[in-house]
Amino acid sequence: MEYYDQAAYEQADGDQYEPLLSEKDRTTAEVDSPLPEDLTRDDLEFPSLSEPELARHYVRLSQQNYGVDSGPYPLGSCTMKYNPRFTEDVAALDAAAVHPDRDGDTVQGTLELLYDLQDYLGRIGGMDAVTLQPPAGAAGEFTGILLAEAYHEASGEGHRDEVVIPDAAHGTNFASAALGGYDVVEIPSGDDGRVDLDALEAALGEDTAALMLTNPNTLGLFERDIERIADMVHDAGGLLYYDGANLNALLGRARPGDMGFDIMHFNVHKTFATPHGGGGPGAGPVGVTEELADFLPDPHVRRTEGGGYERYTPEHSVGKVHGFEGNWFVLVKAFAYIDRLGDEGLGDASAKAVLNANYLAEQVDYDVPLGPFHHEFVASAGDQDAADVAKRMLDYGVHPPTTKWPELVDEALMTEPTEVENRANLDDLADAFNAVAAEDDETLESAPNRTTARRIDQTEAARNPRLSWQDLD
Ligand SMILES: Cc1ncc(COP(=O)(O)O)c(C=O)c1O
Repeated sequence: MEYYDQAAYEQADGDQYEPLLSEKDRTTAEVDSPLPEDLTRDDLEFPSLSEPELARHYVRLSQQNYGVDSGPYPLGSCTMKYNPRFTEDVAALDAAAVHPDRDGDTVQGTLELLYDLQDYLGRIGGMDAVTLQPPAGAAGEFTGILLAEAYHEASGEGHRDEVVIPDAAHGTNFASAALGGYDVVEIPSGDDGRVDLDALEAALGEDTAALMLTNPNTLGLFERDIERIADMVHDAGGLLYYDGANLNALLGRARPGDMGFDIMHFNVHKTFATPHGGGGPGAGPVGVTEELADFLPDPHVRRTEGGGYERYTPEHSVGKVHGFEGNWFVLVKAFAYIDRLGDEGLGDASAKAVLNANYLAEQVDYDVPLGPFHHEFVASAGDQDAADVAKRMLDYGVHPPTTKWPELVDEALMTEPTEVENRANLDDLADAFNAVAAEDDETLESAPNRTTARRIDQTEAARNPRLSWQDLD
């Protein structure tokens, strides 16, 4: 076999091409197995590579990528930030590697950590009880919907079959409500980008099970009328659900529970630690008020009278939403992060998230409607195509913002610098934005030109995906 697959290389249109491990395998020698013949298989073709070859392969691949360790990653709503290494160190401790099926009496330390994290999150969100089980924000939303359903059912209000969601909400809100069997009632935002109270009033009624809201919303705007909104939803007999994806805007300063929310999820992989994205591991703990605590998933962790910890099944539990207590290592990292930062550190993080977003919003030449902002802002690419802007920004060595969403802003560039960037990095980001803002369409449409992989035909990729390297011919 040749070192490089020439056909694949040409197909890749001159992009820097790192061969697959099987393509790199130039070994011809048969390897004698020390195992008995009836225990070996000869139908598997594993590449035979040395350790340095393997290490170099993966390092090269990583160099072709852009991640939170490479530079600013202002992907709005996703909170893609550098994650401190100490959280990884804690998760890598031998003591953290406990089999989840072990009897509670033998893993008291594990249960204590889970209990303490439930407690930390409850205090941060202003919630009375927290389950750690859901493995992502979206899974937290779905769990929240199950809880709302169980609560209404138990209160004799099982007929409530509508969930109200503002048009600026994340797509997962609509999906979670629909997956839970609810009819989604979408309400338009007002001219100021916030919930339109008249539209909300018109949408609420005796069929309302819940309103799902994130605050600050996806435009980075705080819902100033949140207490009034909470009263309206509660007066209609509904529950108020908080999408906690934007909690890094409020940490240590304001609590959803105090605003009147009944159920919330935390995206601990965004707000605290664990770089998410690419479908990576996450955790979406769900907090509830006292009235909903008995419905939480099974198992839950509590203190015993003897001062220890135990798993138990809440009285009217909605059942399991994930294996064991949830995505353990992500929870350990969240615990380590909260524990290290403490009240002051968390408040500092949200202050910096807000400061950075507002500083950057002032530096970019693109039009930035609305405001004042919390953790993110949405600029408009105006006459330029936001997707082209994003691709061109890659040529300037930075990750682009989220594009074309929320749709309330034309050619949206939804930008979340996060709390970890310093002023110099924010200025670099602004320079990249502003360089692209001054360029013509032709330049933008041909971008990216300086990246490992160039522009792909997105329609073709969606309709006719090549899912294997073997499809390259
Ligand atoms: C506002 C908002 N809500 C919910 C989610 C869903 O969270 P997850 O990706 O953890 O499922 C996201 C994800 O980025 C989000 O930005």
